[in-house]
Amino acid sequence: MMSITKAFVLSLSGLAFATLAHAQSADHSGAIKARQAHMTLYGTNLGVLGAMAQGNMPYDAEAATAAAESLVALAGIDERFYWPEGSASGMAEGTRAMEAIWADPEGFSAAQEALLVAATAMAATAGTGVEGIQAGMQAMGGACGACHQNYRVRQ
Ligand code: HEC
Repeated sequence: MMSITKAFVLSLSGLAFATLAHAQSADHSGAIKARQAHMTLYGTNLGVLGAMAQGNMPYDAEAATAAAESLVALAGIDERFYWPEGSASGMAEGTRAMEAIWADPEGFSAAQEALLVAATAMAATAGTGVEGIQAGMQAMGGACGACHQNYRVRQ
């Protein structure tokens, strides 16, 4: 059985931790950097597919599949720690995240899910030829664009 002293010390350290977490909660710069880096990775991988689709890069089945599968993996990441409450544009520095993300969490999740669906379809066809990329490009771009339209502040 745990001694009373030990239990007391544990509860004190829990309190200290909670206080620390609270003191730091106003600084969302780490979460903002994380979600922007995630978006940059989307851009890098989609950029490869876009360049092949437009003939600006020679088609390469393996590279196309790698880019599409990376998009699937990225879109499947649980993003809950990227979007803390209070980190919208106007509340935190250096972000274009709209308050709508927190006002409409279902819509935002649906937009994340739509990207996963589009990326999964792209991964199934990207290795079959340049037409396989072209076929999925509109849905991919649409999934990125729809979320930006509704949840990202225009510049
Ligand atoms: C579920 C919504 C959502 C989806 C889907 C989405 N984005 Fe974003 N994106 C955002 C939001 C919100 C921001 C603004 C983030 C911020 O500034 O904190 C953003 C920002 C960006 C940025 C700027 C990053 C920076 O450094 O400031 C790029 C580039 C980007 N997105 C690319 C993409 C691409 C490419 C896709 C599709 C493969 C995509 N996004 C899909 C919501 C989304």
